[in-house]
Amino acid sequence: MQQLSSILNRFSEPETLKMAKLGRELRAKGIDVIDLSLGEPDFDTPQHIKDAAKKAIDDNWSHYTPVPGYLDLREAICTKFKRDNNLEYKPENIVVSTGAKQSLANAILALVDEGEEVIIPTPYWVTYSELVKIAKGKVVEVHTSMESGFKITPAQLEASITDKTKLFLFSSPCNPSGAVYSKKELEALAVVFRKHPNIFIISDEIYEYINFVGSHESIAQFNDLKDRIIIINGLSKGFAMTGWRLGYIAASPEIAKGCEKLQGQFTSGTNSITQKAAVIALTADLKPSYEMVSEFTRRRELTMKLVKEVPGIKCFEPEGAFYIFPDVSYYYGKSNGEHIIKNSADFSMYLLNVAHVSSVMGDAFGDPACVRFSFANSATNIEKAWARIKDALAKLK
Ligand SMILES: Cc1ncc(COP(=O)(O)O)c(C=O)c1O
Repeated sequence: MQQLSSILNRFSEPETLKMAKLGRELRAKGIDVIDLSLGEPDFDTPQHIKDAAKKAIDDNWSHYTPVPGYLDLREAICTKFKRDNNLEYKPENIVVSTGAKQSLANAILALVDEGEEVIIPTPYWVTYSELVKIAKGKVVEVHTSMESGFKITPAQLEASITDKTKLFLFSSPCNPSGAVYSKKELEALAVVFRKHPNIFIISDEIYEYINFVGSHESIAQFNDLKDRIIIINGLSKGFAMTGWRLGYIAASPEIAKGCEKLQGQFTSGTNSITQKAAVIALTADLKPSYEMVSEFTRRRELTMKLVKEVPGIKCFEPEGAFYIFPDVSYYYGKSNGEHIIKNSADFSMYLLNVAHVSSVMGDAFGDPACVRFSFANSATNIEKAWARIKDALAKLK
């Protein structure tokens, strides 16, 4: 038998992709599965961005690109940071990658050594813990709950820090909980970080524009911490460009150089056509993005109304991103006579097989009481899906 490397045993494949695959398999058998598992806008990329890509092809932007990204794109990213976040960055702070996922992988591999601890508040995006395991770091989960708005408190943060802590890793808006940290809440965490000058912070801000409660706040606004903060962002969510694969970091020149070095061996610079289109996406009017967010706002309200009609489900109203992450543990131990629901994986599989609705089990996000449902789907599908979910759950006794 072929001997594969031990690295493959260290981490799991993303549950989000696994569920999408199972859904596709059922669909291939002719079953009408409604997909509430996937994390991507169901909108088309705005026309002016597609036009910029077509022009880039005609203008023959077809050669290898600089590893950290074209200079004009890195300048456009700096302009975006000034415009949206009032943050000053120079091109030397920016590394463009093939999706924010690669940006995260670069940053984690550039910072974390074997045995070093990475604090991740739960629930968190599935990939965080697995990337830390690939780097041979130790994941330190800090549990947040619906009662605390799925946010870590300064006291929890302080209590989780040891002399091995290297990194704190979080997203705001958060996938999957939808929590959005306010300036005051970030300031309170900053007070703790000031006492621990050796800890780095990865702030994943990919859902920046999909915010239902106010303006986006970045922890990098606290200037004395800025050199230790790596902002992760990208085009996937805010511009409906998941398949184009473009993410970026803003970090100190030293960290940026480390990420560039890693990327130079893994993938080199990202796709030239996407980069040219990204310059237009980031510098043009954001109207299409805001129109998309208005639609997500309507769907969030619809989803919250429908979920409240399902007995036993407790749901936090998301402040950002496009998911709800309800506590479904009321159904654990119940059965329809055929399937027994023991945990969030059983719950998700039950809904897939009986209601033909796909979701993602909470264990994958570090919270076994919950399940993630996306509202990046049409209002018609959302209504249909929640009616089916309600019916399927009514059969559990
Ligand atoms: C919190 C979070 N960070 C990063 C990413 C990765 O985005 P990209 O498509 O740019 O790789 C995702 C995608 O689902 C995400 O939810």
